Amino acid sequence: MNEEEKAVLKAVIESVVGDYVYKAGSARAIEFTEERLREIGMLLAGEKDRKVISQVTGRIKSADSIYKKIRRKNYPADRSGVLRCNDLLGVRMVCLFVDDVYEVAERLKNQTDIHILKEKDYIRKPKSNGYMSLHLIIEVPVSLREDKQGDSDKVREDEEIQWRKVEVQLRTAAMDFWSVLDHQLVYKKEFPGAESVGKELKEYAATIWELDKNMLQLRKKIEHLNI
Ligand code: GTP
Ligand code: MG
Repeated sequence: MNEEEKAVLKAVIESVVGDYVYKAGSARAIEFTEERLREIGMLLAGEKDRKVISQVTGRIKSADSIYKKIRRKNYPADRSGVLRCNDLLGVRMVCLFVDDVYEVAERLKNQTDIHILKEKDYIRKPKSNGYMSLHLIIEVPVSLREDKQGDSDKVREDEEIQWRKVEVQLRTAAMDFWSVLDHQLVYKKEFPGAESVGKELKEYAATIWELDKNMLQLRKKIEHLNI
């Protein structure tokens, strides 16, 4: 791609981002998803009488990251390329235990008012670098009204709605610790020695998974003792 083509792509992204991505609808889609996940987590916590959620966070992908992704994936340098990014909107839910991750995912899949488009289980099948997380691409309904009033979690029946894609990442606190550090230190970065650093990080991912499994066993042991 020459400099001129790069500039055109940047301009296209800026315009799509401005008239679609960075609009109130995106914020509503993120809020909707965050609220739903918090609700699921709180209900589970009540049923199990213990804490389930560590944190729920949302973000809109930056124009710069969209630009880099389109170039990396060779997506078309136009609006359709931007819309092919499933992670323009993202919500991450960190749970304390790995069985909770799967229970939250099951409950999310059972919600009748959202669509589940795709699931990638990087917990059962971690990425080659050691990354672990459960990813769901979902679609949530948002109202098209410009000004936000009332309950963001409810879309009135007579309202015009738009379906928005959201990438949901579910993981344990231990997996989150690893991926936040990986993201800072090596993910998508190229530097001399990256290979050996990557190898070391992968070992730590395995260590973290051992901890996750041990903590779950420990919790189960305690639950058993308390019956
Ligand atoms: P991206 O282009 O990175 O968005 O990946 P993708 O569209 O091919 O999808 P994938 O499911 O592989 O990754 C989606 C998201 O998961 C990424 O944007 C990151 O937030 C996260 N992720 C995936 N792999 C890694 C990893 O190796 N390390 C870290 N820290 N995060 C990862
Ligand atoms: Mg991404």
